[in-house]
Amino acid sequence: MTKWKVYVTRPVPQPAIDMLAEHCEVEVNPEDRVLSHEELIEKVKGRDGIFCLLTDIIDAEVLDAAKGAKVFANMAVGFNNIDVQAATERGILITNTPGVLTEATADMAWALLFAVARRIVEADKYMRAGKYKAWGPLLFLGQEITGKTLGVIGAGRIGTAFARKAKGFNMRVLYNDVEPNPQFEAETGGVFVDKDTLLREADFVSLHVPLLPSTYHLIGERELKLMKKTAILINTSRGPVVDEKALVQALKEGEIWGAGLDVFENEPEMAPGLAELDNVVVCPHIASATWDTRIAMATMAARNLLAALRGELPPQCVNP
Ligand code: DGY
Repeated sequence: MTKWKVYVTRPVPQPAIDMLAEHCEVEVNPEDRVLSHEELIEKVKGRDGIFCLLTDIIDAEVLDAAKGAKVFANMAVGFNNIDVQAATERGILITNTPGVLTEATADMAWALLFAVARRIVEADKYMRAGKYKAWGPLLFLGQEITGKTLGVIGAGRIGTAFARKAKGFNMRVLYNDVEPNPQFEAETGGVFVDKDTLLREADFVSLHVPLLPSTYHLIGERELKLMKKTAILINTSRGPVVDEKALVQALKEGEIWGAGLDVFENEPEMAPGLAELDNVVVCPHIASATWDTRIAMATMAARNLLAALRGELPPQCVNP
């Protein structure tokens, strides 16, 4: 029996490759780097299915090159890298990996919040530089977390998991989304407020929205000015949700106290000036990067891909 031809755009956890290899002829890009648009166009030709990542731009040109392919299985919950409408018009299924990275991503938002509030990275650098001479009453003073007000923008799965974890710190939770979410309120005790109220009252603001035209630059100069001077902004969603240039300015001028960022407007670049600031902690988009979660994401993507090749509707299909 001829096996389906599948292309995997970058090395991914082995259990997913093993699952695919049982039923398909699998080629994996052996290099741990993002393929150029031209390379991607060449590689998708003649495949029945493509296992892709959030770093692969799947536009109409790539979809046309993949003529005959049934599916692009994205190993990410976000799928803003894919022109879903163009795929739908061409009868190609698009899948994502929701649910399995919820807790890891929420944990990372907390890790960034703690790192910024308690100045962990600055302190670590100070120690390594041999600067620590004695305990100091004013050494690395940060922001108290317990009992403070948490502002959550985006009350979906990840926003809910993030806010639920605030219970242990006895926090008041405010949240904003396009509409109130009873499930979020039941799980977190959070109170729905408009975005400006949240920005004015929260000590920590964490973003958990997908990247959509309506969420592009959701946080810009105006919003940053509304925030407390002692506030911290956390972004583990998508970089363009924040106007990064305005953020650098706000951090420099002390409009807000600090920021923890796992995502950037033009990854892998950072806005000029960001890397020089001590009041920001930056990470290379690793919120879902635990072994458990990445294996779960990869095997979910593989299951979606195989379902589509069998002619079934994949469980996590995002085409309308
Ligand atoms: C996603 O899945 O969309 C994250 O950004 C990476 O895990």
